[in-house]
Amino acid sequence: MIIVTGGAGFIGSNFIREWLAGSQEPVINLDKLTYAGNLKSLADLSHDARYRFVHADIGDRVAVAALLKEAQPRAIVNFAAESHVDRSIHGAAEFIATNIVGTFNLLEEVRAYWKGLPSTAQANFRFLHVSTDEVYGSLTATDPAFTETHRYEPNSPYSASKAASDHLVRACYHTHHLPVVTTNCSNNYGPYHFPEKLIPLMILNALAGKPLPVYGDGQNVRDWLYVTDHCSAIRLALEKGRLGETYNVGGRNERTNLDVVNIVCSLLDELKPRADGKSYATQISFVKDRPGHDQRYAIDATKLESELGWKAAENFESGIRKTVQWYLDNQDWVQSVTSGEYRKWMDTQYANDKEAA
Ligand code: NAD
Ligand code: DAU
Repeated sequence: MIIVTGGAGFIGSNFIREWLAGSQEPVINLDKLTYAGNLKSLADLSHDARYRFVHADIGDRVAVAALLKEAQPRAIVNFAAESHVDRSIHGAAEFIATNIVGTFNLLEEVRAYWKGLPSTAQANFRFLHVSTDEVYGSLTATDPAFTETHRYEPNSPYSASKAASDHLVRACYHTHHLPVVTTNCSNNYGPYHFPEKLIPLMILNALAGKPLPVYGDGQNVRDWLYVTDHCSAIRLALEKGRLGETYNVGGRNERTNLDVVNIVCSLLDELKPRADGKSYATQISFVKDRPGHDQRYAIDATKLESELGWKAAENFESGIRKTVQWYLDNQDWVQSVTSGEYRKWMDTQYANDKEAA
């Protein structure tokens, strides 16, 4: 069996669903259930005998050690993290606690468990660390896309904390020989994406008749990948990735934020037209820029494609259509995650919306 940490979040929940669709191998989801973790994202699996949820913090060494001893996993896939850049700007303490100290504590306990395994199980064990392209910093319009050898230049408290976790994972391999593989992925989108992030936020605000807050001039570029394509890359890296290596994952799909928001609006215009016949794009509002806003991310996924044979199944047109339709069809899930805590965050982050860029 495997343990997935952070499996109640956006990518982790999609990963667990994909895993169980393609394998009989059981999976344990270890999650702290922060504001971003929601067991409703896995409600369809709650009675599946191959799935088990354990409520714990990756930084809780006693809980992690006990689970490892009892469950005897052959692999850990580490998704657990604080993941939202804007929140890290408002306050980074939780990012340091989970992304750095939590990852360290997890690595310490996994290493102790791994050292006690029989030699074949030790050789077959894997620790897959899920990271981000944001550790590489920001590109100009003409820079080549990030490769795995691009230097680390994190610019936000979030990306700095992820960079630190990547370095701890790397050191654990080089110093202690724990069999690790790291993936660095671009922006994901798809079902179960928490609506503090660009695409789901725009869908929900549009439907609620609220402004669509585009930071700055909307010309920042992100490389968007449908979430299940990220999951298939992680699975390949887990099974076939070379030890100690990192693999970049990306969709070769660079878009400005304004393009993305306009595409979301035109899909909503088609699938759920506004009562007054106007486009949702009339709700777009340019607001104050994110401090330290990275201009452009782009991923060169050649290593993953050529070494491991990975290929994205979804293109942006098909993926974004599915995503918008999913949010229209899953209002129950939306209601369950847009709790009091969510509304408090929206008030804090967008309080100065009226302030033009
Ligand atoms: P998310 O915020 O949706 O989910 C994070 C999950 O981790 C939640 O279920 C939360 O409860 C859990 N968690 C947080 N702190 C924890 C702790 N101390 N112990 C146990 N569980 C804890 O995040 P996501 O978007 O699904 O991202 C998952 C991982 O992928 C993160 O490591 C993130 O850095 C990385 N990543 C995300 C993207 C993206 O576009 N979303 C892209 C590349 C990499
Ligand atoms: O690149 C991978 C990263 O992608 C992951 O590591 C992070 O966990 C994930 O959150 C995401 O980070 P971003 O900062 O790129 O995603 P976000 O959805 O917050 O923002 C996407 C872009 O849209 C970014 O340029 C900021 C902009 N934006 C965002 C919000 C929430 C807006 O213009 N308005 C908004 O209201």
